[in-house]
Amino acid sequence: IANMGSGFDIMGLAIDEAADIIELTSNTSCTIEIKDIVGANLSKNINDNIVGKVIQSTQKKLGITQGVDVKLTKCIVPGSGLGSSAASAVGAVYAYNELVNGGLSKEQMLELALDGEELATGARHADNIAPCLYGGITLAQHKDKIHVTNLPLPTDIRIVVVYPQIQIKTADARAVLPTEVLLKDAIAQWSQVAGLVAGLCLNDHKAIARSMQDVLIVPHRSKLIPDYTHLEQSLQQAGVLGCSISGSGPSIFALCDQNANTQEIEHLMKSHFQSKNINTQSWVTSISTQGVKTIQ
Ligand code: HSE
Repeated sequence: IANMGSGFDIMGLAIDEAADIIELTSNTSCTIEIKDIVGANLSKNINDNIVGKVIQSTQKKLGITQGVDVKLTKCIVPGSGLGSSAASAVGAVYAYNELVNGGLSKEQMLELALDGEELATGARHADNIAPCLYGGITLAQHKDKIHVTNLPLPTDIRIVVVYPQIQIKTADARAVLPTEVLLKDAIAQWSQVAGLVAGLCLNDHKAIARSMQDVLIVPHRSKLIPDYTHLEQSLQQAGVLGCSISGSGPSIFALCDQNANTQEIEHLMKSHFQSKNINTQSWVTSISTQGVKTIQ
């Protein structure tokens, strides 16, 4: 969940599900062969596919040509706003590094995964890549270099996510944003981000609740999501700590503590879209402390 409310392009949160699965098998032909893609209609050309691109970058970095056959199972729908491209990019570098025992550090893997994110979105933002790779809640400071910090996790938090099956391209969701903002709005936004970071560090649920609202980006993007403001108000009345658009949308997430009824929140989110004849997929999930991992 990129942005996590007010942290546009710098904060992100890893959730336990959904997740992509990448299976790599060594081959003897020194080539990267994308043999099978399940769950999405994506190119198998290694120069157009995020996994192919990232494995090529990883080979170059390690100075090796070990070939692999790839099976990619997409459980995160591309264009859902749930970090689909970042999940595949991080999975690719992590899996290849494991297979060849490459010894890459997370800092090195981050840079290589960003090659895949750049192919998908045209930008090297680490707000999705960092939580996929490090797990938990991450702050990715972008200046001369990207510096990732894992922030402390608040206790007793559940996350409800709904993916309304409408298409919003990241490029379109960025195109609706202004290129310049007023200083007073910038101050309001960075006070929100600072409040969110402080709330996480202090495990102060009230500070988190008052700091998640984005004042710069969501007012523009909300127009792309049917009746978003009404949904936001309903969720607040239902007692969520905070809610926002996940990444560039259209998925919406709500952070809930023990006082909120997550089944009720999930129902509220689904029925909001279903009443508009929009199909949904939803999850009641937790923060993934691990991020990417090896499964047998
Ligand atoms: N931070 C990005 C955005 C995430 O909101 O546009 C999608 O790449």
